[in-house]
Amino acid sequence: MREVTILAISGSLRQGSHNTALLYAARKHAPAGMMIELYDGLGDLPPYNQDLDTTMPPPEVADIRLRIARADGLLIASPEYNYSVPGVLKNALDWASRPNPGSCLVDKPIALLGASPGNFGTARGQLALRQVLMATRSHVLGHPELLVFGAHQRRDSGGHVTDTTTLELLRQLLERFRDEIATRQALSARSQVTCA
Ligand SMILES: Cc1cc2nc3c(=O)[nH]c(=O)nc-3n(C[C@H](O)[C@H](O)[C@H](O)COP(=O)(O)O)c2cc1C
Repeated sequence: MREVTILAISGSLRQGSHNTALLYAARKHAPAGMMIELYDGLGDLPPYNQDLDTTMPPPEVADIRLRIARADGLLIASPEYNYSVPGVLKNALDWASRPNPGSCLVDKPIALLGASPGNFGTARGQLALRQVLMATRSHVLGHPELLVFGAHQRRDSGGHVTDTTTLELLRQLLERFRDEIATRQALSARSQVTCA
């Protein structure tokens, strides 16, 4: 089985973000057959403007579209802001969702996770994110879900996620995601042979 490459996007720009820390943990504990690369350009993307969305979009936009297109899947860890998706993440998804049809998000396997210091672990934010990703016709992993509540209690003094329950659930999510991508790629290859 070939290694799957994952582009990881945090919905938080905050230094010390619980969600970015989750992605560092995901990269560190990536299962066999999976390579995780962190995207750190979210804050550099201009606000979405359809007048700029031409065949020569801003370079930051071209970059994220290319990186999403090249990845086998996306791993999105995001905070919940006011029961919904942080503006910076929604902005990135809006840029990535064009041109329509044919955007880099169509059929893209995506796994979601999120962390908050509160008790709901981004439950409402993840649902809002799923709704956006229905519009982009992405393939969002249904289960397992990873909702990390009390996130500030699950890290050591260096900011690393050390809570064993969180790390075990993260491992389960990543393995399931890897297997789902591999299955979809195998099915896609088989249907191409059948149709050829
Ligand atoms: C603008 C704003 C809105 C927020 N709204 C929510 C919310 O609706 N639900 C929630 O559980 N936490 C909310 N929070 C608290 C975040 O969960 C908390 O700041 C979290 O640490 C942000 O994620 P990060 O650590 O990855 O930056 C909000 C925080 C901000 C700054």
